Amino acid sequence: MARRTTVGVIDVDVLAYTAGEDRVLDQALLEADCMGSAAHVTMLSRMRLDGNRQLLTAEEASQVVDELRGLWQEGQEGRFEITLDDQDVHLAIERRLTEKLGALGKRVHTCRSRNDQVAVDLRLWGRQKLAETQAALAATAKALLALGKKYRRVPMVGRTHMQPAMPSSVGLWASAWSEALVDDAELLETAARLNNRCPLGSAASYGVPLPIDRELTAKLLDFDGPVHNVLHANQSRGQLESIQLSALAQVMLTLSRLAQDLILLSMPEFGYFTLPVAFTTGSSIMPQKRNPDVCELMRAKAAKVLADAQLVAEIVRAAPSGYNRDLQETKAPYMEGFAITLASLRILPPMLAGLVVHEDKLREAFSPAVYATDRALELVAGGMPFRDAYDHVKAHLDELAARNPDEAITLKSHLGAPMGLDFDLMAAHVKAVESRARTALRRHIACRNKLLKIK
Ligand code: ARG
Repeated sequence: MARRTTVGVIDVDVLAYTAGEDRVLDQALLEADCMGSAAHVTMLSRMRLDGNRQLLTAEEASQVVDELRGLWQEGQEGRFEITLDDQDVHLAIERRLTEKLGALGKRVHTCRSRNDQVAVDLRLWGRQKLAETQAALAATAKALLALGKKYRRVPMVGRTHMQPAMPSSVGLWASAWSEALVDDAELLETAARLNNRCPLGSAASYGVPLPIDRELTAKLLDFDGPVHNVLHANQSRGQLESIQLSALAQVMLTLSRLAQDLILLSMPEFGYFTLPVAFTTGSSIMPQKRNPDVCELMRAKAAKVLADAQLVAEIVRAAPSGYNRDLQETKAPYMEGFAITLASLRILPPMLAGLVVHEDKLREAFSPAVYATDRALELVAGGMPFRDAYDHVKAHLDELAARNPDEAITLKSHLGAPMGLDFDLMAAHVKAVESRARTALRRHIACRNKLLKIK
């Protein structure tokens, strides 16, 4: 059975197979598509053909923009519909513009293809999501720093191979995760920089034989500039998703390892921490249970984001040059990667703020063996060669005396050690990530409002 659609007659099964999940996923791209379309028609209206002929007057462009704002508003209210015949948001918008504006609606697609249209949509959508992720990452890094600063003088056994190793502090443990996130933020920023160039005007992948102004559309959409080569502009789709998902996967790796520590160190056998009750769940049979489900799911969700990155890389791995429909299948993992990372980053600050720290348990965990290396280094300070001191302490392990863990960490005062942590410096790094994210978000929203004339 065949159906008539905006772009011709298509067999129903083929239509369902090829449209895939786009009807649902493309809802997220409505705003970006309205922005891209507004920039495109504005550019068309300023273009002059031979004999000073215009494809679209400024008046007409403005009419289209007004309609686009209406469609955007429908989306805000959850009323915008993408039908199966539309296939995707691009054709849904074109149908609606044509229903409303007749011949004018039919001219909107001049000099563009759904290929550069979806490419610009994804870059705009990604720009916002990257900024939101950076902001959420900064909030989590901040919460970790606050925890670390509050308990910076509380001793904690440092471990290697999960075995007790050397005196450490809660401050060192918590702020280490914060610094890891700030490193991950650099990857997100690189991804954002690569993402922030405009692919519009590449059309199907090869440009158009009319004098479009690619600098103008890039400027109207507040990109850093156009992607230069139109073929690259088109096929950077997939590459960009892959880069962004790899960065998101790094964030999730950090969160997953933090979650693992939280699960372990809040077990009764350790008892260092108690997770806030609201962030644990009970059991349907065992009345006493408070389970660390949030942390467990964070581990599992990290696996999903890693798999999303892998999936996108696999899809584009053997893609020939130019647009290929395979790219459509990268949309779901791309969007899932952001959804999971954002949700994970957003649940952490309140959980960390409510974490109960049991100072008594943390101090009780210090056995004399934890001071073995400190003892050897004391002997070194007295003039003994390190290997002799090591051998001596090793031969007399049973003679190691219990010490005061608070004093033990006081001695570790060099740069970056438990008592040499520069919380102001670490906070400044987090703040820089936060302010860049806020600026990016503010600019994105301002660009949207200006293009669509939203008050
Ligand atoms: N929904 C499509 C996608 O995500 C839009 C582009 C379709 N282009 C095409 N040549 N069929 O890739």
